[in-house]
Amino acid sequence: MSNNRIVSGMRPTGKLHLGHFHGVLSNWLELQRNFDCFFFAADWHSLTTEYANTEGIKDSINEMVLDWLAFGIDPEKSVIFEQSHVPQHAELCLILSMITPVSWLERNPTYKEMQENLTTKDLSTFGFLGYPVLMASDIIVYKSARVPVGQDQVPHLEITREIARRFNHLYGPVFPEPAALLTETPKVLGLDGRKMSKSYGNAIFLSDDAEETRKKVMSMVTDTLRPFKKDPGEPDRCVAFTLHSLYVPQEKRDEIVIACRAATLGCVDCKKILAGCMVDTLAPFRAKREELARQSGLVQEVLEEGSRKAEAVAKETMVEVRAALRV
Ligand code: TRP
Repeated sequence: MSNNRIVSGMRPTGKLHLGHFHGVLSNWLELQRNFDCFFFAADWHSLTTEYANTEGIKDSINEMVLDWLAFGIDPEKSVIFEQSHVPQHAELCLILSMITPVSWLERNPTYKEMQENLTTKDLSTFGFLGYPVLMASDIIVYKSARVPVGQDQVPHLEITREIARRFNHLYGPVFPEPAALLTETPKVLGLDGRKMSKSYGNAIFLSDDAEETRKKVMSMVTDTLRPFKKDPGEPDRCVAFTLHSLYVPQEKRDEIVIACRAATLGCVDCKKILAGCMVDTLAPFRAKREELARQSGLVQEVLEEGSRKAEAVAKETMVEVRAALRV
């Protein structure tokens, strides 16, 4: 039953930012070297909250997959596809929904939290409650034994494991119970010091150009307890400095720490250093993205080809599922 497969999906929310870059994507890039990876745009999952405004989803997929490709997620090495192109996800979801107790879904902390926080949308739907069942299908339809997820997705994955166990108990051993591959990722702060997020309007996007990036970096919050350049600063309190550790070479950083504490380097100059390093580091990625974006229909082709490959695997699993179920 064991295989080397990894499955991971991302809801298409449009252009990706540096938080994705240092979190999910660098993790995927590493996994791609050692596993058979299935990476997909979870467009049906988007419907759970966006069912009333679906017009942006296609564009979001396009932007997101361009970012993946530019970053080095490679269709020659990984299967890159679109969830809604592989109907077996839905078929398995239906079957799993029959054996999933509603109480498992209702006690899911993410469910409760989102119900409470997203008050502008009516989330009292069957589909939203069933989010983890669809996610379980995404994963086990490829019999994946490992799933790279962030801490926030752990409760969902726990439900996946429970559903797989229940299926095996009822109908015989078909599915491995997938384990979470938790990876340490740096928490990337946005311009205002909160977690970087598109919805907070504090993000630097992978697709921003050099000019835009510089402007954003220069607007970043620094050490709020250092009102004037003549006051000594503290890098450990500085929002911008959290990005220095990702983009500025160690030696230069050591100099900055000393100069900041001695009040010989001001925040404006310090952020100029950061902006320069960041623009240089991101330049090849941006050039690549522009080149890929010029090839019209590229993303579509990649997704079609990937979806065919994914479907071939998913179909095999469904043959076993039907046999086990006798329906
Ligand atoms: N729930 C994930 C998120 O919100 C997206 C997702 C859907 C996913 N299906 C998945 C992740 C399967 C890993 C495996 O980020």
